[in-house]
Amino acid sequence: MAFLSDTLARVKPSPTIAVTTKANELKAAGKDVIGLGAGEPDFDTPQNIKDAAKAAIDAGKTKYTAVDGIPELKKAICAKFARENGLTYQPSQVTVGTGGKQILYNALMATCNPGDEVIIPAPYWVSYPDMVLLAGGTPVCIAAGIETQFKLQPAQLEAAITPKTKWFIFNSPSNPTGAGYTRAELKALTDVLMRHPHVWVMTDDMYEHLVFDDFEFCTPAQVEPGLYDRTLTCNGVSKAYAMTGWRIGYAAGPVALIKAMGTIQSQSTSNPSSVSQYAALEGLNGPQEFLAENRALFQRRRDLVVGMLNQAKGVTCPNPEGAFYVYPDIAGCIGKTSAGGTKITNDEVFATALLEETGVAVVFGAAFGLSPNFRVSYATSDAALKEACTRIQTFCAGLV
Ligand SMILES: Cc1ncc(COP(=O)(O)O)c(C=O)c1O
Repeated sequence: MAFLSDTLARVKPSPTIAVTTKANELKAAGKDVIGLGAGEPDFDTPQNIKDAAKAAIDAGKTKYTAVDGIPELKKAICAKFARENGLTYQPSQVTVGTGGKQILYNALMATCNPGDEVIIPAPYWVSYPDMVLLAGGTPVCIAAGIETQFKLQPAQLEAAITPKTKWFIFNSPSNPTGAGYTRAELKALTDVLMRHPHVWVMTDDMYEHLVFDDFEFCTPAQVEPGLYDRTLTCNGVSKAYAMTGWRIGYAAGPVALIKAMGTIQSQSTSNPSSVSQYAALEGLNGPQEFLAENRALFQRRRDLVVGMLNQAKGVTCPNPEGAFYVYPDIAGCIGKTSAGGTKITNDEVFATALLEETGVAVVFGAAFGLSPNFRVSYATSDAALKEACTRIQTFCAGLV
């Protein structure tokens, strides 16, 4: 359509949202569908956070606020970074936006010029490349496959850096693989970055609190203080505090960058919801015990799903360190034909046939830039997970 912009032509709608929408439509039409597509915790926001939001409404905290966040919340974010990550930031180094998504978008919009390259390890969260494209930059996606547990190797990072590299986007634990970099693995990457002072680091720590066994979360500026002046440490309350709908994300970094991000936000959405900011404030300052309870719950589900998927014929499912996703490899299924008569030529066909023949909704790997795989979100009940994995096993057993 001639009316639409060239910018629009560079991007595609989010495939993960598309899968969730399709699964919901089938459900509404009366089909027995189990959705494993959604990227959000399946339980409610904690009561103390809801109460804080209600109190904010009753106290009339319903007006515009400072564009990039109320001072109390910025202070709480500084305290969080000090407490949990050993990072010292001043409120002037902090910005608050409408979800982690807007934070990343603001940063790219504020910094990318045509020709600027942004290194993104694949598989990646679906929005990174499209946001870079929207901002006018060039995504440089580097495959980190199952043979390295989906973790980018230092030599790959070194080889991808050019004089045009502006950012390296880092996400651990990862959406879609759940892979978490150990301190030593991350240090090996930051050592590379120390040799290239023009490259900035955008770290997306959204799944920080969802780590299992004795895995220790760490973030680039903490592992390599030499990167502090060129790192944007991004985080949010969506996943850890079961607050996806409230839309609060935040970041800390150099003042000039934070100011520039605020300028972008001031001419687009202005402040994030005032009520949500007070809710996030309670989330960060209130009791934190439920974080450990959630971790235990998700770890149990991870074990269940990894165990059952590895019993599906043609499927190899690594055991990830965190988040609430697994990213099984289905090389053993490609080229076969399903019981319903579909030739499985790639992972998108696999996911469509799985949905149509068994009612299990997963997101195909090509959406995340690495195939042949699919992503399972195990943020759903144990009973639904067991039933879904049993159906996947049956589907795979039927491939000939
Ligand atoms: C890796 C990653 N970063 C950022 C986000 C965005 O989070 P928010 O809902 O706060 O915008 C998500 C959400 O799925 C994510 O998985």
